[in-house]
Amino acid sequence: MSWAEWTRGIEVEPSLYASDLSRLAEEVETLLAAGTRVFHWDVGDGHFIPPITMGPIVLQAISPLVHAAGGVLDCHLMVAAPERHITQFAEAGADSVTVHVEVCPDPTEVVGLAREHGLQAGLSLNPETSIEQVATAALEAEVDLVLCMSVHPGYSGQKFIPDAFERIRALRELLPGSMRIQVDGGVGLENIAELHEAGATLFVAGASVFGHEDRGAAYRALVEQATRET
Ligand code: DX5
Ligand code: ZN
Repeated sequence: MSWAEWTRGIEVEPSLYASDLSRLAEEVETLLAAGTRVFHWDVGDGHFIPPITMGPIVLQAISPLVHAAGGVLDCHLMVAAPERHITQFAEAGADSVTVHVEVCPDPTEVVGLAREHGLQAGLSLNPETSIEQVATAALEAEVDLVLCMSVHPGYSGQKFIPDAFERIRALRELLPGSMRIQVDGGVGLENIAELHEAGATLFVAGASVFGHEDRGAAYRALVEQATRET
């Protein structure tokens, strides 16, 4: 399976890191019922980003529930030396893995490893990282998506950095149309339509989904707003 099959034009990806982790399965079920297909799974190693978040052990517990409903798990590896973890994530039920260009000296090798395991692959960049650097590496490694961070990676609920609009536009110019652009950090009703207009089609949403009592309604509102004319 691939992003081409998963994506219905655009996808809003609830970031489970921001969910009520004491009720993880319930959160997933509610969102599946509301129409979510792609879930975002944030992995932090306490090194590339300060917190240690959720690893393959927890992923393994939740992936059968997601897959049984036709959903997929998009893993954002905010970890140093990501090549050490790809196999474990594949075995735990990941469908796609995205690694950070800042800690990945050989993206082509890591993407090759992901493909060997039947995973889709992405390359991410921090707000300070050069657009040209990631575009060159993404083209060389033939990734499926480029993830443009619109906050400094680490925590949910941070304020969106508006430079992201320009950075997404620049990336859209540099990358072929088949390479999706994903945006992560501070995405909400107030910026999602403009992010779509700039060229993003995959929208990670933490606080803008889980900060609301009715997760399903929050998810659907984001989907609707993303496709609204700006
Ligand atoms: C943190 C993660 C994000 C985070 C998004 O850096 O990569 O995916 O959970 O949360 P919000 O949407 O609240 O910024
Ligand atoms: Zn993320």
